[in-house]
Amino acid sequence: MYGFHRKSAKAVAVILAAALAVTSGCGTNTGKTAPATESQQAETVAETSATTAAAETTETTVEEETTMEDAIPALKDCVEAKMGCRFGCAITGDEPWDIGVWNIVTTHFNSVTFGNELKPDSLFGYSVTKCPGTQEAELNGETITVPVMDFSRPEKLLNKILKWNETHPDQALQVRGHVLVWHSQTPEWFFHEDYDKEKPYVSKEEMDKRLEWYIREVLTHFVGEDSPYKDVFYGWDVVNEAISDATGTYRTETEKPEEALSEDRHGSNSSWWHVYQSEEFIINAFKYANKYAPETLELYYNDYNECQAGKRAGIIKLLEAVKAEEGAPGVGTRITAMGMQGHYGIAGPSYTEIELSAKEYGKVVGEVQITELDMRASEDYDGTKETQEAEYEKQRKQYNLYYYALQSAQNSGDVKITGITFWGTVDKYSWLQSRSNVGGGNTTKQGQCPLLFDNYYEPKPCFWVFAE
Ligand code: GLA
Repeated sequence: MYGFHRKSAKAVAVILAAALAVTSGCGTNTGKTAPATESQQAETVAETSATTAAAETTETTVEEETTMEDAIPALKDCVEAKMGCRFGCAITGDEPWDIGVWNIVTTHFNSVTFGNELKPDSLFGYSVTKCPGTQEAELNGETITVPVMDFSRPEKLLNKILKWNETHPDQALQVRGHVLVWHSQTPEWFFHEDYDKEKPYVSKEEMDKRLEWYIREVLTHFVGEDSPYKDVFYGWDVVNEAISDATGTYRTETEKPEEALSEDRHGSNSSWWHVYQSEEFIINAFKYANKYAPETLELYYNDYNECQAGKRAGIIKLLEAVKAEEGAPGVGTRITAMGMQGHYGIAGPSYTEIELSAKEYGKVVGEVQITELDMRASEDYDGTKETQEAEYEKQRKQYNLYYYALQSAQNSGDVKITGITFWGTVDKYSWLQSRSNVGGGNTTKQGQCPLLFDNYYEPKPCFWVFAE
């Protein structure tokens, strides 16, 4: 079955690549999407680069001998030509050490978002139920007690990227930081006296010091003047998902009343809101990000269900509130763009809702990025080969409409779309394959095929939508 699939994918590739060579002018790359063997997956950073380099040499020879059977366009070049924007994907955990994934990332994308590594729970060393220890820090002339941080997980990925960029300047990757302030994946103890979740919540004034300290620590560590990583980041999600799905206004501590607020990492309820009882933490997060970020670092608000009318209205109010406080670093806020997550489905939203939403956000903040694009399967798909072909075709058509909506918004003059990022690379690693431990994901056992590349690292029909 695999052999057949690979062959038919190649046949499509040959026809389309030939057509594209005439019509699009976007670059081609040779078969870098070959499946990884288990031993390849275990390769180290250095070995990965070396293997890739060796593979490139071999492939050039093979291509010379066998015409352009393996040639496929590099999506980042095609998207740059059509939309004039970055093209990204999320990577997390060991995925970059799966050589099939790494080849896809470095061939087709110029931007990456770390799926988990820069979130608060990771930066507190995944010490989720208990504070990992404290130390003293200076903040605005005052000594405060702060939790110990652990930057090792993002640094592992960043070191791989730095090394890659040094040796492959033509295929350099940039990073979209994700995320500073979020109700989810932030340990509950962070909001309590002595960082002990059995003790009472701290006051708003105390929490605001923690907020400023946390943003300062993260930004100084990764994009401060002395950071080896400073040039690799181009932007950062300052606040994620602060608007309710249900009420069209801010997410509070009762977004899901049946869920305890004391849950370690929070699925839906916001301890930020619980402590502040207002959107002040959002405004202050943008103020502190502006204070500590270099002025070239883009700053974003990011949310999902962003095309639903009620939620869109709430997000627009939030963006307006952040904009209303714009000012110099140390004084006011700064926001560069709205991040539309783009967790869409075969069932919707419609392309008109996407176009309208991008334009509406553009009217407030100027720029929009699609930050976590993927597509839930239709109910007809059961994960088997029998239902796959039809599902792939539905998915191709839907992605086509979505891409058309983004082009149309881009050409309208109401918004500048500066990036499109997929939430993953190959279907098998998508978060939609299993239920996420912090809410969301797949609530059923239904198979999913949300991304551009299949489980064998081959481009799916929807790949060609973005290769136009
Ligand atoms: C949200 C978050 C992401 C990620 C996805 C699911 O959209 O912004 O960081 O957790 O959910 O994987």
